[in-house]
Amino acid sequence: METPLPGVAGADSLLGEVEEAEAALRAAADRALDGPASFDAVIAADQKIEPRDMMPDAYRAGLVRQIAQHAHSEIIGMQPEGNWISRAPTLRRKAILLAKVQDEAGHGLYLYAAAETLGVSREELDQALLTGKQKYSSIFNYPTLSWADVGAIGWLVDGAAIVNQVPLCRCSYGPYARAMIRVCKEESFHQRQGYQSLYVLAQGTPEQRAMAQDAVDRWWYPSLAMFGPPDADSTHSAQSMAWKVKRFSNDELRQRFVDMCVPQAEILGLTLPDPDLRWNDERGHYDYTSPDFDELMRVVKGDGPCNRQRMAHRNRAYADGAWVREASAAYAAKQQSKRKELVTA
Ligand SMILES: [Fe+2]
Ligand SMILES: [Fe+2]
Repeated sequence: METPLPGVAGADSLLGEVEEAEAALRAAADRALDGPASFDAVIAADQKIEPRDMMPDAYRAGLVRQIAQHAHSEIIGMQPEGNWISRAPTLRRKAILLAKVQDEAGHGLYLYAAAETLGVSREELDQALLTGKQKYSSIFNYPTLSWADVGAIGWLVDGAAIVNQVPLCRCSYGPYARAMIRVCKEESFHQRQGYQSLYVLAQGTPEQRAMAQDAVDRWWYPSLAMFGPPDADSTHSAQSMAWKVKRFSNDELRQRFVDMCVPQAEILGLTLPDPDLRWNDERGHYDYTSPDFDELMRVVKGDGPCNRQRMAHRNRAYADGAWVREASAAYAAKQQSKRKELVTA
């Protein structure tokens, strides 16, 4: 059944921003041919820093941390929804979910490649995730208890990801900005499919409707927590803003997300689980209850409902894939020695 999606108008305007960023990126690439400029001058002129450019060590280290954590999140993020591929209610839903989960794998690999341009190896990045040295987004440490969770994740979690990532399309590091453009276009599809799936459930039987509401009740606050700690407690923000990696503060983005979701929830006919959620005429925004940041910190530190399960699964999958890595390394070595033989013959 095709449903009109009036509630995703907010997502359309975000996609417009992605396209503007793409045009700006092309213009910056043209200007970059004019000659070398100092790091500060490039940042001041809103141009892009490229892998070959000089950059402060802290800029490089901060980006490696951010891009790697982003990549890890995409990879771990396949697990909660992957859990429902074999139980999707129809073949169509299964095909959509498969495509979505596969997109997340692609985002992860794309981002690892962006991090590699800063001088870290894929193996180092893999190990940082597998040993817990680097983190991934805490949202993926919550369980997916019903089919409606797939819809709620698409709508809220991918929705929050888009709000976070659209400004990154204009980030000062070229490879990251370019990766984000492609990623955001796909995230927009993810959000729409989740919203449409929830919409169908919300119009369904009382049981389906209750299932949709329960999923929204459980995913709302963890989604708000995806924007990170409040501005006052955010450790990396000020420098990141000065270097134009980050363009808006955590609280600004959280507000933008709330403002986008409220009218969408109304169209779904579902309630956001916040009795204090209401329009504030003076501010021109919705007032809302902040997520429990103590809970966020507990989950970040490893004490969420599924942290152990997610890491155990990732480590198992990595070990199971050893033969693939060995076979491709052996194949590459064989090809290389063949080429050498041809050159020396
Ligand atoms: Fe993604
Ligand atoms: Fe996604």
